[in-house]
Amino acid sequence: MHNAAFEAMGVDAAYTAFDVAPDALGEAIAGARALGIRQLAVSIPHKQAVIAHLDSVDPTAERIGAVNTVTLQDGRLVGTNTDWIGAMKALETERVLAGGRAVVLGAGGTARAVVFGLVQRGASVRVLNRTASKAEQLASELGASGAGGLESLEEAEFDFLINTTSVGLSSDESPIAPLGRGQGRVVMDVVYQPEQTRLLREAGQAGARTVGGKWMLIHQAAEQIRLWTGRAAPVDVLAKAFDRAVM
Ligand code: ATR
Repeated sequence: MHNAAFEAMGVDAAYTAFDVAPDALGEAIAGARALGIRQLAVSIPHKQAVIAHLDSVDPTAERIGAVNTVTLQDGRLVGTNTDWIGAMKALETERVLAGGRAVVLGAGGTARAVVFGLVQRGASVRVLNRTASKAEQLASELGASGAGGLESLEEAEFDFLINTTSVGLSSDESPIAPLGRGQGRVVMDVVYQPEQTRLLREAGQAGARTVGGKWMLIHQAAEQIRLWTGRAAPVDVLAKAFDRAVM
């Protein structure tokens, strides 16, 4: 996706993927530093651990507790988080977030980014997780208004529902029972493989508008590109590149 965007933008740069073992993370960052690499996109399982190796972390990434982007700025490696922006941009294509009632499923690192974004945009948020205590902890840390177990979804009134758990990844499972009513609701899955998860399929059948995880991925990548080039990335080009890679 990044490379397709660079080509379309006329930016002379290339993204390459490397697998880095957890115990080699410090060396990998030192290597990137020595090479003067402009930006690193950081993925699982390094989003928290990478923080210890950076020169600074912006306040948003610090509050979320995870860095997915490291950008070289004036010779310093600065950590940021673009996952939350990606998720909000994807949701905002369907409905204004301010004043909305959201339910976030999950309480891991991705949930933290999504809850942060929703609170920041002025939505009220309820966090539901298999392990309810983790949902409660996350909710109180990030200013969500409620928390509970996944089973308490029935009682929850909501306009937005966002799955941040890994349920549905490369499988035909859903973290919740099919919704009774979907009309007027927006359901987003951060899982992007398969593109049409069971959660999204059932939500669509119930009348909800659905947003696939690919849009969060695309918009967070666009934000990464903006961070170091200072220019808006072509979202349509990113989307086409995603389709080519995944289809
Ligand atoms: P990430 O950084 O991608 O958010 P994570 O921190 O490992 O990943 O979080 C995974 C989330 O998926 C957690 O909320 C986890 O629930 P628990 O806190 O109860 O472990 C949730 N999850 C994973 N597998 C699940 C399953 N089979 N059913 C329900 N929730 C699941």
